[in-house]
Amino acid sequence: MNQKKICVMGLGYIGLPTSAMFAIHGCKVIGVDVNEKVVDALNKGEITIEEPYLDIMVQAAVRSGNLIADTKPHEADAFIIAVPTPITKDKKADMSYVIAATEAIVPYLRKGNMVILESTSPPGTVEELMLPILEKSGLKIGEELYVGHSPERVLPGKILWELVNNNRIIGGINRISAEKIRDLYKTFVNGEIYLTTVRTAEMCKIVENTFRDVNIALANELAKICESVGVDVWEVIELANKHPRVNIHQPGPGVGGHCLAVDPWFIVEKTPDLAKIIELSRKTNDSMPQHVLNRIDEILKDIKGTKKVSILGITYKPNIDDMRESPIIELINLLDRREDYEISVYDPYVKTHKYQAKDLIDVAQNSDLLLLAVHHDYFKNLPLSDMAKVMRNRNFFDTRNFLNKEEVENKGFKYFLLGQGKSKTK
Ligand SMILES: NC(=O)c1ccc[n+]([C@@H]2O[C@H](COP(=O)([O-])OP(=O)(O)OC[C@H]3O[C@@H](n4cnc5c(N)ncnc54)[C@H](O)[C@@H]3O)[C@@H](O)[C@H]2O)c1
Repeated sequence: MNQKKICVMGLGYIGLPTSAMFAIHGCKVIGVDVNEKVVDALNKGEITIEEPYLDIMVQAAVRSGNLIADTKPHEADAFIIAVPTPITKDKKADMSYVIAATEAIVPYLRKGNMVILESTSPPGTVEELMLPILEKSGLKIGEELYVGHSPERVLPGKILWELVNNNRIIGGINRISAEKIRDLYKTFVNGEIYLTTVRTAEMCKIVENTFRDVNIALANELAKICESVGVDVWEVIELANKHPRVNIHQPGPGVGGHCLAVDPWFIVEKTPDLAKIIELSRKTNDSMPQHVLNRIDEILKDIKGTKKVSILGITYKPNIDDMRESPIIELINLLDRREDYEISVYDPYVKTHKYQAKDLIDVAQNSDLLLLAVHHDYFKNLPLSDMAKVMRNRNFFDTRNFLNKEEVENKGFKYFLLGQGKSKTK
């Protein structure tokens, strides 16, 4: 059997694991990235992102000779585009990377090739944006060049397991494209693969993230309401979820990442007059850093002069190093604009932030408030007694309901919880 040759455009959180996965399953993979550092590292069998076991898999793939990296595409049987699709400042999809990657592969396309968009994109991207570029190859689209969308659902931290085991949706510009793409992914996918149109696949991916964003927005709105009503939102949600048909999500200091905080805007951009709940949910989640700051103001209102806030965790979710669209970065920006606050940060996964302290004791030095912002497992056993010794005022604000109130109070702290109002019942 001929060895399949695959060219993957973009070697980030999606493109690199996908490349390595195809390579260790016997395909010849050329990973392409515009970032030379990423390419150089990969050719040495090294990686520039954090993902459990990815380093081991990449090493094995590079050593086998099945995975090489370059800054330019090569001829292949299939081209997978896994480049970023961020939003601009005015919340519009920035499709410039997809356009650049599509244009870059045109000279390498041959009869019988597949082109697969993996990047999360607004509905219509493949048909309206990519096909006009791909037509420049001179190949008959859908007959000589098979095109589709295979959106990615993996969870950072579990990418390698989920790549293989998640169910996938594959949308083709015609049935044969979808079928050919499915056969390619069957190389390593154990989950079910469902075929549909390319536009439906594009819509599905952003609807999945929109569902989650809207439901988190409900939890966040409830957190604010519970603070005002004088109850504990966490208890309310836990008890309400005992209802057999209720499943309320968890509140927090905001929603980050390049998926939930981004994808719903693709729907708003396409249909601004219709996407009312979706837009309001995005704005509700985006309002949480300011809400956290309002609570900090309240907690520290009696302290005169500059107050020091020590922030534990800055990534957008626990146990990973990814800070993209992190609401904690937004909170730091809000605090930064205030002259009455000094900031210190400790995140065990992030070494380069300008406020990053050396360790958990250093971050607490002369602090007036420990703010638990990200529920990294690492923070489960904080050395609170030692941290308390170096603090100026012992306040603890838990935005994730992560630590046990009594345990924190037993270490001499005043404990505050996001979504918990002052009880009005006796
Ligand atoms: N990370 C996730 O968990 C996840 C999950 C589902 C979907 N997605 C989607 O997958 C896509 C890729 O996301 P990611 O997290 O891998 O991004 P990333 O930023 O980690 O990696 C993208 C890589 O593409 C490279 N690149 C940019 N332009 C290029 C070009 N023209 N040619 C070749 N390489 C180029 C960048 O240098 C970078 O290394 C996005 O659309 C994202 O929304 C991501």
